[in-house]
Amino acid sequence: MEAYKDEISEILLSQDEITQRVRELGTEISRDYQGKELVIIGILKGAIPFLADLIREISVPLRYDLMAVHSYGLSTKSSGVVQILKDLDRSIEGQHVLIVEDIVDTGLTLSYLRDNLRARRPASLRICTLLDKPSRREVEISAEYNGFAIPDQFVVGYGLDYAERFRQLPFIGVLKPEVYSK
Ligand code: IMP
Ligand code: MG
Repeated sequence: MEAYKDEISEILLSQDEITQRVRELGTEISRDYQGKELVIIGILKGAIPFLADLIREISVPLRYDLMAVHSYGLSTKSSGVVQILKDLDRSIEGQHVLIVEDIVDTGLTLSYLRDNLRARRPASLRICTLLDKPSRREVEISAEYNGFAIPDQFVVGYGLDYAERFRQLPFIGVLKPEVYSK
């Protein structure tokens, strides 16, 4: 992680803290879905490391599928326009669906996704997010499973990027403001 040292001001969540919390989430999800089968929908690209670790902590049968979305959150704040870049491979009708996302910020992306997926008539639909920035919320949405609530700081690592960089970091770190203001 030497290469990124000058750009990260602080480690917010260590690799060990993340591992521990992901294990707890997996246990909780396994308990809640006992006797059922799950369809996990990972949101590209940020949720990939979290998805990969989380599914290995879940003991009920599951399949996973992936979606990629692009949100125009800032430019069209009021409408929260979200475009689907990659849709699911298979139908989720009648199935127990859990959306797995890296972070809930304004909430626009997940609020769109939840409505979009609900229209496909799953048996149930819940959200699992690794991080939550509650102070930034613009639309009301809360995840049933939530790894960590964090302050309003721009974070990277464990899937989260700034301009596609930093996704490979095994921890979650705070990006120095000079990195994104230059
Ligand atoms: P929302 O629609 O505003 O909730 O935005 C969710 C998306 O914004 C996430 O999936 C991330 O891609 C991105 N995002 C929000 N906050 C951060 C952050 O602190 N670091 C990296 N990406 C972020
Ligand atoms: Mg991003």
